[in-house]
Amino acid sequence: MNAIEIKDLIWRYEGRETPALKGINLEIEENQFIGVIGPNEAGKTSLVAAIKGIIPENYNGIYKGDVKLFGKLNRDSSPRELARTVGMVFADPDAQFTSMSVEEEISFGLENIGCDVEEIGKRLEWVCKLTNIEGLLEKPPYDLSGGQKQRVAIASIIAMKPKIIILDEPTSMLDPISKDMVFDLLRIMKEQLNLTVIVVEHNVEKLVELADKLILVHDGQIEKYGATETFFDDLDFISEKSIRVPGAIKFMHMVNASRNKGEHSPIQLEEIEKTVKGYLKGDE
Ligand SMILES: Nc1ncnc2c1ncn2[C@@H]1O[C@H](COP(=O)(O)OP(=O)(O)OP(=O)(O)O)[C@@H](O)[C@H]1O
Ligand SMILES: [Mg+2]
Repeated sequence: MNAIEIKDLIWRYEGRETPALKGINLEIEENQFIGVIGPNEAGKTSLVAAIKGIIPENYNGIYKGDVKLFGKLNRDSSPRELARTVGMVFADPDAQFTSMSVEEEISFGLENIGCDVEEIGKRLEWVCKLTNIEGLLEKPPYDLSGGQKQRVAIASIIAMKPKIIILDEPTSMLDPISKDMVFDLLRIMKEQLNLTVIVVEHNVEKLVELADKLILVHDGQIEKYGATETFFDDLDFISEKSIRVPGAIKFMHMVNASRNKGEHSPIQLEEIEKTVKGYLKGDE
């Protein structure tokens, strides 16, 4: 089943001359992990906001086309129904917090979707263990480190058990160690939860370790959508779209080009290492 189906979606913010989304068609299957890449101002945030339904709900503008989640049109769903189906995490976790303690923060979201006290208790215990924030429950969110804040923000979304979780540049405001913490959580989402995950992320090197498929957004359009493994085969095309391609991927392409054998170039660091070691040993 498709988790997401977008048909001929055009979106223009009020006051702008050109649309931010210029005719998007997209199908995302259930339980996929999808990475979204693209240069600044490409339309990545607009695209995920349309999936979440905050476009057109919270913005003024002109909207044409259809967005369906699990077969149901977004515009036919109530805000509460959409909140149950899709959770969203932003770059700045502070923007999400409304409570005086982590426990309250997570409970608040659960109350909002109609969970009773017993269910809230169960989910709190489950999500805190899963995301390793058990020691933070009593603390006020503003007292946490950047990485802890983002873990809490993500935990509060996971606790609501949405079928789709969208993260829009969840690591962009974090220091390197906190970034790694968030990527660890993304791996947990991929491996342990029944979820469709969509992550907008500039760190392609990390993304290729996790994503089943990638979407390249450029100038309001989807320029490329496909399996991560073969996504970088046409490296020139990707580079032309102002994507920062990891050095290891470029290197692997250069090595294979010089061998003139038309091999498929691996993209994950471990695979690249294995392949190069093989070449050095003289494997064919
Ligand atoms: N609230 C808004 N009002 C008017 N125009 C907007 C608004 N938000 C975004 N835009 C415009 O829509 C286009 C797409 O922006 P969007 O934020 O979706 O891109 P993005 O790929 O997420 O960029 P970034 O990498 O900077 O986050 C840009 O031209 C941007 O200026
Ligand atoms: Mg954005």
